Amino acid sequence: MSNNASAPRKILVTSALPYANGSIHLGHLLEYIQTDIWVRFQKSRGNECYYVCADDAHGTAIMLRAEQEGISSEALIERVSKEHQDDFATFGVAFDNYHSTHSEENRYFSELIYTRLRDAGHIATRDIEQMYDPVKGLFLADRFIKGTCPKCKTPDQYGDNCEACGATYTPAELIDPVSAISGATPEVRSSTHYFFKLPDFADFLKRWTRSGHVQTQIGNKLQEWFESGLNEWDISRDAPYFGFEIPDAPGKYFYVWLDAPIGYLASFKNLCDRTGIDFDTYWKKDSEAEVYHFIGKDIVYFHALFWPAMLHGADFRTPSAVNCHGFVTVNGAKMSKSRGTFIKAATYAEYLNPEYLRYYFAAKLTSRVDDLDLNLDDFAARVNADLVGKVINIASRCAGFVKKLGEGRLSAHCAEAELVARFIAAGDGIAEDFEAREFGRAVRKIMELADEANTYIAEKEPWVLAKQEGREQEVLDICSVGINLFRQLMVYLAPVVPAMAEQSREFLKLDTLDWHSRHHVLLDHDIAKFKPLMTRVERDKIDAMIEASKEDLVEEQKLKEAARGPLADEPLAGEIAFDDFAKVDLRIARIAKAEYVEGADKLLQLTLDLGGETRNVFAGIRSAYAPEALEGRLTVMVANLAPRKMRFGVSEGMVLAAGSGDGIYLLSPDAGAEPGQRVR
Ligand code: 2FM
Ligand code: ZN
Repeated sequence: MSNNASAPRKILVTSALPYANGSIHLGHLLEYIQTDIWVRFQKSRGNECYYVCADDAHGTAIMLRAEQEGISSEALIERVSKEHQDDFATFGVAFDNYHSTHSEENRYFSELIYTRLRDAGHIATRDIEQMYDPVKGLFLADRFIKGTCPKCKTPDQYGDNCEACGATYTPAELIDPVSAISGATPEVRSSTHYFFKLPDFADFLKRWTRSGHVQTQIGNKLQEWFESGLNEWDISRDAPYFGFEIPDAPGKYFYVWLDAPIGYLASFKNLCDRTGIDFDTYWKKDSEAEVYHFIGKDIVYFHALFWPAMLHGADFRTPSAVNCHGFVTVNGAKMSKSRGTFIKAATYAEYLNPEYLRYYFAAKLTSRVDDLDLNLDDFAARVNADLVGKVINIASRCAGFVKKLGEGRLSAHCAEAELVARFIAAGDGIAEDFEAREFGRAVRKIMELADEANTYIAEKEPWVLAKQEGREQEVLDICSVGINLFRQLMVYLAPVVPAMAEQSREFLKLDTLDWHSRHHVLLDHDIAKFKPLMTRVERDKIDAMIEASKEDLVEEQKLKEAARGPLADEPLAGEIAFDDFAKVDLRIARIAKAEYVEGADKLLQLTLDLGGETRNVFAGIRSAYAPEALEGRLTVMVANLAPRKMRFGVSEGMVLAAGSGDGIYLLSPDAGAEPGQRVR
């Protein structure tokens, strides 16, 4: 690939689409920061580079979460998308477009890709048996089924494997399985599913994954998968499901993972339509543009197998590369809610400068798939030593003398042309590291330069010379070199710490800190008054962030307890689970007829019209209502109460009334309610 400035590359870059039902945390941020640095670097080099993303908005989990919150799925995904975009902006992650998989563009491309695959014979259908929740009326994915492990008998194990003994099984083998959503005992039911015939693409995928599109570690993993054989992929889910209905299959929806990566196309299309970029230049089969997906190691199967196969089968180009990273650990361990190391982006930003994290991640990132440890002591030490102690120090030591001795104007000649030239030349090697995603290596080189710059200034001791008469020009020359070296460093660091770079650009009174701009040495050039560019990381802020993250957990638990929704654990004593309440079928009823009951001095016999169906109900309201006063009015009834045999006949439900000792007040809906309507 050419880095020739006269022929800018066309590059499209994506990060994985975050689910629209959870907050962005430091684990997510590693990927967005890694991608954003790479994109900013490409833009700095003058390439035509676009960075698109979207919320991953479909699926059962989002549908249930919305239900738990008592809002529509659409309202949930809109709210979460705003939160996500705020978090990304706070961390300087600058997308060219942020869209949603619940969009018309995504529906269009999902249908297009599906129909092309179907017409080419790559879709199969067959019936499969699955656990079904008869109360919620939906099929249950493995993670929504719990029961006792058939092997070690540990209760409360989810899905298809036991956390206690590691056994794997089918959910049907669980002892006493229950739906984790409603608590009901699931039934096995059969339904027709749609499958993408991945094995049709085995040869193509073997060639594709062996020709430089994935990292070596990933290639090895894929080899194992090829050896154990590729399976057809179930891409349909039955209603109710929040997603897109499959064109030729009413009641069947695309599985969330089918339309998620298609969201990359949809978001880019949305950008193209807004700005006039040509979509096909990037996505047509023989495109010469480059397309890169940055993802985590947990979703390789989707991106290195399903996705290229889908694109290839539907006549689109395939990605230039899938760039995979590892997970974030904190202080050497998995992020933990109880230890306060499961840190949300927003919580971090309340206490610490987001650019500290960008720098620390960059300093530790390689092009490999290894996990990255955020060691909080090392984090503070490194940011303070490197950014504050080395880089900013250069500017802060020199700026005052330039102001005082040159009235804010740098020397007209360069006193250390060779040193400055070396800093400029170093940009080529640093660029190679950024290009190869070896950010840690780039940062090391930049810090070596920073060390050299500091050594130069320390050896020249301008503060000593400044006290000697007649040496003003010499001091100004030295400090002008210092400012030029600082400028070079900020060109190289700009993709990593864009906010600090922007302040530096203003301080340096430059139009740009783009990569090529560094060739122009600053001579006889005005600079602005120096303002501190970044403060030191304070240990107590880190501790406060950890404490706040522990509180986030407490808050989450409180919310869960308040909602007690479908995904809550056990109800507290005296409470019923939401789903127990949801089992009560409350309906608007019209009292079609009301009569006295012979021999019963408290009861009236009501004939209730539920909008087509009638019920006979005995109600203890005789003391408060004359029958003729009731006929024609609306009230609320429990419609699914098991019929009760009474002395006077069978009662098929119950009407709702308020009442203390001295009055009974039948409930009535507001005007507009209709018989048979459900009450919630
Ligand atoms: O794993 C996840 O968080 C998914 N929401 C990623 C989707 S990436 C792409 F395929 F959309
Ligand atoms: Zn077990």
